[in-house]
Amino acid sequence: MLIKHRAGWELPESQATPEAAFLNRRSFLAGGAGLIAGSALPLGALAQGPDPTADLYPAKRNAAYTLDRPLTEEEDAANYNNFYEFGTSKDIVASSKRLVTRPWTIAIDGLVEKSLEIGFDDLVRKLPLEERLYRFRCVEAWSMAVPWTGIPLKAFVEFAKPLSGAKYIRFETFLNPRVAPGQSQRWYPWPYTEGLTIAEATNELPLLVTGIYGKPIPTQHGAPIRLIVPWKYGFKSVKSITKISFVAERPKTFWEGLQSSEYGFWANVNPQVHHPRWSQASEQVLGTRDRKPTLLFNGYGEQVADLYKGLEGEKLFM
Ligand code: MTE
Repeated sequence: MLIKHRAGWELPESQATPEAAFLNRRSFLAGGAGLIAGSALPLGALAQGPDPTADLYPAKRNAAYTLDRPLTEEEDAANYNNFYEFGTSKDIVASSKRLVTRPWTIAIDGLVEKSLEIGFDDLVRKLPLEERLYRFRCVEAWSMAVPWTGIPLKAFVEFAKPLSGAKYIRFETFLNPRVAPGQSQRWYPWPYTEGLTIAEATNELPLLVTGIYGKPIPTQHGAPIRLIVPWKYGFKSVKSITKISFVAERPKTFWEGLQSSEYGFWANVNPQVHHPRWSQASEQVLGTRDRKPTLLFNGYGEQVADLYKGLEGEKLFM
């Protein structure tokens, strides 16, 4: 965040993907390890016992989803994160461990047959879990390729039984400024929220992700449950979800609320539609020196382009 109201990705392109940050992440992180020891706050994940869902991993990989590039090294993905609740730098691993992820309850409400609250550990055993290899493209023009484990969002929507008036789904992150220092910064519209249309949510691709690299997902990636929408910019993929609401109106999302001239509801990846302050034509591949051309819909056009027929008048790519 260079100005009070500016996101980390609101940097000139030259600074958006500093090569040193990609190449030196490991040494940088080694220096940062152990910071939690100095914290007066609850140790969260550090203080918690063994993960009660560990037996579910690794989940069976769905071979239908293949990559055009090598997987990102686990250490690289795990140490270069956006999680503004825990700070605006990419180095939030230690800070994010303050998040206590057990017990964890998710509210399902709005236009559904029956509103309910369900414990994460129950939910994850009620619905199918599988592993998929997906590309992931951040609006900041960096990318990674990751094995996510998750529940197809389509299966979750069937479980939630929305009413016919439900046109959108709104996802909400926890709100607890005592644990997440970023949430004391009042100029952000906390809690972090995101949204999809029901048609997008019931497409085959979105996952409610609970694991990564064959293990339960760690806090910095959004434990215990986060969204992954691989054809949209990464900010749509909301972390550490506590509420999922089925609604009639398009929800206003976190980044839209902060800067609507630069971040919209749709946020589909498109190399030809540039962010107002940097190009989206190519992307820095995390942990490498590679810069790759960015693909329309992040390469998932075959699965999702039809969703946008008739919506040409909308700002689909911001
Ligand atoms: N979810 C919450 N709650 N808070 C955030 O700051 N950042 C988003 C998204 N989900 C964010 C969030 C952005 S900008 C990106 S690029 C991805 O998380 C990063 O996910 P990763 O850290 O697992 O790579």
